[in-house]
Amino acid sequence: MKGIILAGGEGTRLRPLTTVTSKQLLAVYNKPMIMYPLETLLKAGIKDILIIVAPDHPGDFLHLLGSGREFGAKFTYEIQDKPEGLAQAFIIAADFIDDDNVTMILGDNIFEDDFSDVIKSFKSGGHVFAKEVPDPERFGVVKFDEQMKATKIEEKPKVYLSNYAVTGLYIYDKRVVEIAKNLKPSARGELEITGIHNWYLEHGELSVDVVKGEWIDAGTFDSLLKASLLAARRSGTNLALN
Ligand code: G1P
Repeated sequence: MKGIILAGGEGTRLRPLTTVTSKQLLAVYNKPMIMYPLETLLKAGIKDILIIVAPDHPGDFLHLLGSGREFGAKFTYEIQDKPEGLAQAFIIAADFIDDDNVTMILGDNIFEDDFSDVIKSFKSGGHVFAKEVPDPERFGVVKFDEQMKATKIEEKPKVYLSNYAVTGLYIYDKRVVEIAKNLKPSARGELEITGIHNWYLEHGELSVDVVKGEWIDAGTFDSLLKASLLAARRSGTNLALN
């Protein structure tokens, strides 16, 4: 199993914070944001990790994370020249993925759960994770039937579909590279990861689990603050504003 952390994008929703650094290097409590998704991959036993970054601050990621030896892992770096969609990561990572399965995590996604079991036992197809949220329109959304089997996935649906957001952790087999290459850009000009989920869903090869613990996409001011509060709580700090 190979790992990818996608830390591209311009972080426009977090300006002016992201005028001077990358979103994934911003502080979440006591460390840069990217260290949380990195820990999720390392905890699951993934040791060969490709870190995809935007062209603006690549040296800062290298300075922070280095070769990976310090973490008992090997890190490789690639640049995503333009933010042309999450699915583009698999095209950039084609040589890196080679003949292996791959787990991709978004550099701004913070999870409490331990995914070791599902990642270690993954054989083929696609496996994604959903979480009930109050604001599903911000995300990819999955609809389940009564047996909690996924029936439909749509990116930022305009018409209400369900409260289950698709989180930023994806496990796929190596076919993902060819699937990504065959995607057409969406109306917002991006290769949507939802197009990949739908390929596996249509072929009856997509599993969707519900995440039990907290999940935060730290890409807005409010969720960034929430992520810091969660990290502080997990480290045992009892924050009070007085
Ligand atoms: C992306 C994906 C979306 C997913 C979300 C999770 O959205 O397109 O399907 O639910 O990440 O964080 P974006 O953050 O690019 O708007």
